[in-house]
Amino acid sequence: MSVVKRSVLALAMLATAPVFAAVTINIDPAKPGAVINKNVYGQFAEHLGTGIYQGMWVGPGSKIPNIRGWRKDVVGALKELRVPLVRWPGGCFADEYHWKEGIGPRNKRPVKVNTNWGGVEESNAVGTHEFFDLAEMLGADTYVSGNLGTGSAQEMSEWIEYMTSDSKSTLAELRRKNGRAKPFKVDFFGVGNESWGCGGNMTPEYYVNLYNNYEAFLKAPPQYRPKIVASGGHTNNKWTDVLSGALKGRTVGISYHYYTIPTGNWDIKGSATGFPEAQWMSTLVNALKIDTSIKENVAALEKNDPEKKISLLIDEWGTWYDVEKGTNAGFLFQQNTLRDAVVAALHFNIFHAHADRVTMTNIAQMVNVLQAMILTDKDQMLLTPTYHAYKMYVPFQDATSLPVALRDNVEYKIGAASIPGISASAARAKDGKLYLAIVNTNPNEASDVALNVAGQNVSGVSGQVLTAAAMDAHNTFKQKDAIKPAPFTAKAVNGNLLMKIPAKAVVVVALES
Ligand code: AHR
Repeated sequence: MSVVKRSVLALAMLATAPVFAAVTINIDPAKPGAVINKNVYGQFAEHLGTGIYQGMWVGPGSKIPNIRGWRKDVVGALKELRVPLVRWPGGCFADEYHWKEGIGPRNKRPVKVNTNWGGVEESNAVGTHEFFDLAEMLGADTYVSGNLGTGSAQEMSEWIEYMTSDSKSTLAELRRKNGRAKPFKVDFFGVGNESWGCGGNMTPEYYVNLYNNYEAFLKAPPQYRPKIVASGGHTNNKWTDVLSGALKGRTVGISYHYYTIPTGNWDIKGSATGFPEAQWMSTLVNALKIDTSIKENVAALEKNDPEKKISLLIDEWGTWYDVEKGTNAGFLFQQNTLRDAVVAALHFNIFHAHADRVTMTNIAQMVNVLQAMILTDKDQMLLTPTYHAYKMYVPFQDATSLPVALRDNVEYKIGAASIPGISASAARAKDGKLYLAIVNTNPNEASDVALNVAGQNVSGVSGQVLTAAAMDAHNTFKQKDAIKPAPFTAKAVNGNLLMKIPAKAVVVVALES
């Protein structure tokens, strides 16, 4: 071949190849995976700190604008988030909660001590009716956690009857007297919480016997019957293995809890803000390890439940830092930064990859507790970076996951630690469009990313990016929009779509052809 011909060929190749791209994302729409259950974007609201009282519930007599006691501003923001599912009332709180104390006239309900969280008074103002009122306002499915720790099979079965019976039984009539004619829609019902710890220090073998016993008495009319969830483990797959091998009845899932702690040390967890880059890295390293945990738990399910009747439900997850200075240590109040949004997006991408078994997750927690969507201070409210990440990912609810392969991925390194620079996930949404989510884990360097969709010419992408100058960028009551999503677009040139993904960023785009 002559020199001229070789040069012409080289130029032609340059015109079609994404020469500047460090990373190529390949998507194959012809090989759809599992549907990403909308409940993967579920939330968790516990009677803990100001998570419910003050943060969401102010009571009908409050000066803070409210709808039957629930804050108008918070409900409005949560509606925009399209919260698909809410888990309530705990957490550890659930195993000391007696539902009969939370019904009837509010001024007659007993005041208890919240022994798990700060030793504060629990007025029982929010009970069964209030919870379902909130869920119905949000249009969310419900996940009620029952008391296995200090309750009884009778108490649990009566709660189910109270909520779901359409008969003229005394309990159903009591519900009607308390203002609710038709049964509540209980989508999921959990038997206990963290039974290995705050839920009663049980072994999995002991728990599963107890579970099988309780579950036998959870009866409801078929059209109102909740899906029953067994409470599982954390740190390894032992609980999933023992439970899935011995569960009887109508169990749809085994729960699993996974918290991300920057230092890995529960005594000094690390700060939510003002952290060094080493803790940006260690937080992301620890967050990414959930992938291994899921794989180990799914392996136990594959062994004991090859028919895939039982899901892995990660009904608590998120970042857990040292509490903000000057706040009650039992309230678990922490700031929320760009790092949290990146952690959330990395989790979403991993959950999508396991969509066939992971059909529900619940971030801990919705408002003012741990990795919250919303922080409040008296009548003030702000949206956190985690809120924005959830909102950007809304198109992935009930979308069909698509296989994504990354070529030439970059590495983000600091010291001996190293993680993939780019994480990506794609899905065909219910609106028919193909959505792509990209996370750049590197806090210092932007990344060039090329997109290749098999059998499709992509003319451009359009969506949003969440990023900021600082790793710990966050919103405050003085500066509520210090960090928020901005538009993100890219156009194909000569058939090649190149995107510059900023450092420390979450990007969600719809593809255009
Ligand atoms: O989310 C806070 C607490 O963390 C929950 O109550 C408990 O289940 C877990 O240990």
